[in-house]
Amino acid sequence: MVSIIPNPENYSSGFLAAFWETFSRQYSCQSEQLIPLLTKYEKTDQIGQVILEIGCGRYPVTDCLNSYHVRILMDVLDLGLVLPSTSAYKVEVDLNCIAASVDPKYAEQWYGKKWEQDLAKYEKVLKNVHHIDTIVAGSVLNYIPWRNFFLRVGHDLSKNGLVFIHNGIEEGEPRRFHETRPRTREEILDFFNYYYQILERIEYSNQTLSGPIDYIDLVLRKKF
Ligand SMILES: C[S@@+](CC[C@H](N)C(=O)[O-])C[C@H]1O[C@@H](n2cnc3c(N)ncnc32)[C@H](O)[C@@H]1O
Repeated sequence: MVSIIPNPENYSSGFLAAFWETFSRQYSCQSEQLIPLLTKYEKTDQIGQVILEIGCGRYPVTDCLNSYHVRILMDVLDLGLVLPSTSAYKVEVDLNCIAASVDPKYAEQWYGKKWEQDLAKYEKVLKNVHHIDTIVAGSVLNYIPWRNFFLRVGHDLSKNGLVFIHNGIEEGEPRRFHETRPRTREEILDFFNYYYQILERIEYSNQTLSGPIDYIDLVLRKKF
């Protein structure tokens, strides 16, 4: 079969490399580094029954899983376009609103009543599933108040529940970056260090068209 997807190795010119980067970023999952990690923990039955993927985009990385019971996909996108799954709740919410609920004064000021509506959508789903076993956050920390988000949603994660993170420092669309985005990998580690045990920590840097980017992949286990 002839593939219509261009192979970047066949193109040496800057234009085609740029095209490939835009093409692949737009049309595929950006957090595929999480696939071997998710698969590893699934094989040893540690993923659990209820999986929440935040900022899942059109290509949720949790598509690679076979063994969950319920999957909650959250994004601001119209998730109707994400391939249907029999056991998925698709919740179109602004993650900022859920994060803002940690500080209602801030929430009112910045989001009016919208934060209550978006939080209510999340809580309605949670009522049906009661708790979360695994949270997956791939390439989304740069866009949301991630600490507040994890303080709020981490509360609903079961004891010993897992968190999978993939993040490139300052990687993405700068116009949409959140002011609280992590500026270093250490900031992410410092935040999670208290409540979570670090099971996997993979750090690497890649050269991209916009310069070198530091990445971190983490698997964390909730301690309390
Ligand atoms: C860089 S993409 C990553 C998508 C996917 N996780 C992946 O790895 O390919 C960031 C995603 O976060 C979503 N996003 C950004 N800000 C958001 C917000 N405030 N609330 C909900 N989703 C948000 C975007 O719509 C987008 O789908």
